[in-house]
Formats: sequence, structure tokens, C-alpha cells
Amino acid sequence: MANKLIYVLNGPNLNLLGLREPEIYGSDTLDDIAALLEDRAGELGLSVDMRQSNHEGHLVDWLHEAQAEGAQAVLLNAGAFTHTSVALYDAIRSIRTPVIEVHLSNPHAREAFRHKSYVGMAAKGSIAGFGARSYLLALDAAAAL
Ligand code: DQA
Repeated sequence: MANKLIYVLNGPNLNLLGLREPEIYGSDTLDDIAALLEDRAGELGLSVDMRQSNHEGHLVDWLHEAQAEGAQAVLLNAGAFTHTSVALYDAIRSIRTPVIEVHLSNPHAREAFRHKSYVGMAAKGSIAGFGARSYLLALDAAAAL
């Protein structure tokens, strides 16, 4: 039987991880995180499909696609769209595929505008504040669903 598929969707500015405010987000690049996830997914008998876009509509399309492709779960780090996007809130609520919110930093310990999460209001659960490890913890949570 084919491995269960986990979509890992990343939003705006996360393509610059490693360069972008490393004191907040760490020195791992998105490719480094993808490699960590691949290793862990192999141990868990899962497959990961990791993507990044700076465009909100791509993330909406990929959430719909995750359901159409029968993904087991979606890990979603929507970046700043987390705090602004009713479209992502609606998209998450529009699919049955469970979505796990992921953040490298802990938005609740940062500026007030990061305290509201449209993604978190619709997601199955949230993991934030553990750097690249947030993604691995979320993958473990997805495996247990
Ligand atoms: C982030 C937190 C968001 O507030 C921010 O806009 C990001 C990254 C994180 O992973 O810590 O782009 O999602």
C-alpha cells in the first residue's frame, strides 16, 4: 500500500528562511526543513509534499488539492496570512482533511497583530515556537491522526 501523504504548505516570505531574521526564525532554510521532514516521514511510513508560495490563492488551491488527492493531513505555516486571511479560514473549513497550524516562532509572544490567527480558528490544532522542530512535532501529530 502507498504511504499516506502529508501536504506541507508554506506561505509568504518563508522562501527566505535562513536569511530572514535568523534571530527569530533560526538558520535552517526551507530546504533544510524539507530534508528533516523527509527523514522523519520515512521513519513514520509517510510521504511529504512540501510547497511554498507568496500568493494567498495558491495556498487556497493547495488546500483544496490536498483533499482531492486524499492527503491524510496538511501542515500549514501560512506566514503573515495566518493573521489576515479569511480566505484561508474558509478553505480550511471547506475541506475535511485535517489541517495543523505550524509556526517557527511563537506568535503569541510577539506583536499584538500576530495574536489573532484565522488559521488557528479553523485548524485541528496548532504547534508554534519550536523553530524547525515545530514542523517535526506537527508531522508526529499528523501521523497519529
Ligand atoms: C510565522 C509567524 C508569522 O507571524 C510570520 O508572519 C511569519 C512566520 C512563523 O513561522 O513563526 O511569516 O508563521
